Amino acid sequence: VNIQWFPGHMAKAIRQFEENVSLVDIVFEILDARIPLSSMNPEVKRISGDKPHLYIMTKRDLADEKQTREWLEYFDSIGQPAMAVDAKTKFGTNSVLSKINPILKDKLAREEAKGMKSRPIRAVSVGVPNVGKSTVLNRLVNRRAAQVGNRPGVTKGQQWLKSSEKLELLDTPGILWPKFQSQEIANKLALTGAIKESVYSSDDIALYALSQFRTSLHQGLAERYRLSESDFELSDVDLLLKITKQVGMQDDYMRASDRLIQDARSGKLGGFTLDSVADLEESDNADY
Ligand code: G4P
Repeated sequence: VNIQWFPGHMAKAIRQFEENVSLVDIVFEILDARIPLSSMNPEVKRISGDKPHLYIMTKRDLADEKQTREWLEYFDSIGQPAMAVDAKTKFGTNSVLSKINPILKDKLAREEAKGMKSRPIRAVSVGVPNVGKSTVLNRLVNRRAAQVGNRPGVTKGQQWLKSSEKLELLDTPGILWPKFQSQEIANKLALTGAIKESVYSSDDIALYALSQFRTSLHQGLAERYRLSESDFELSDVDLLLKITKQVGMQDDYMRASDRLIQDARSGKLGGFTLDSVADLEESDNADY
């Protein structure tokens, strides 16, 4: 497997995000709850400097609930504000405000003490492609009543959107590419949909999925594809061929691979999380 990924506009995206960060009180880094580490871009922390930073882990509904709780406990233990949400349905402005108010209250109190008028908190979100940035923005903002208009300092074409009297968001989330530190990370990003189909081969990703899921989503695989216990003794390649037959695609394992990837992404095999807190603690990776 060899996923190559060198987006030419990376430098531009970073510059744009640097500008945006200078305009806000807090950065919302949107992470995929299924891959909190692999969907994280270490550049974000560097660019944000000492600006507060909230992790919003989306797709909680598609992740392994126990591991999501472990991640939240871990972030809490290192003093990193974080929340996990199903951005499609159960999520709103109040839950975000209750997370960020304590972080920013000293700053706002200092401003008021200096006689400055009370003002909304301003935020910008950032994340890898497809992680749920627009979904989060749409949940937080009532589009029809949203536009607060252009403000000085905001790049032409960008606007503040009003979430409430207390919160405004920049309308263009930053898109940053993940660092491809390893093929493993690339596999995780491909499986969860953060990288375009044109840069990977579906069968590689399906085989990776099987290697991960044969134990963690054993039951989900067995039920969805009517597999028997002995099928799980097959190698990943033979198991993929078996699944290809089971879904009625004869020898077309590429199409079956796409099906398997779609089923995994949409939660049909069960919730899964591919980055664990234990991996992080073992890897001792300074980047994180
Ligand atoms: P982006 O701006 O970061 O690129 O991501 P976007 O919001 O477009 O979300 C990408 C996909 O992820 C969308 O699905 C969106 O509905 C889905 N999504 C975002 N957050 C969540 C979440 O918390 N849970 C679940 N289950 N899905 C989430 P799509 O397939 O492109 O569209 P659709 O199926 O919603 O129509």
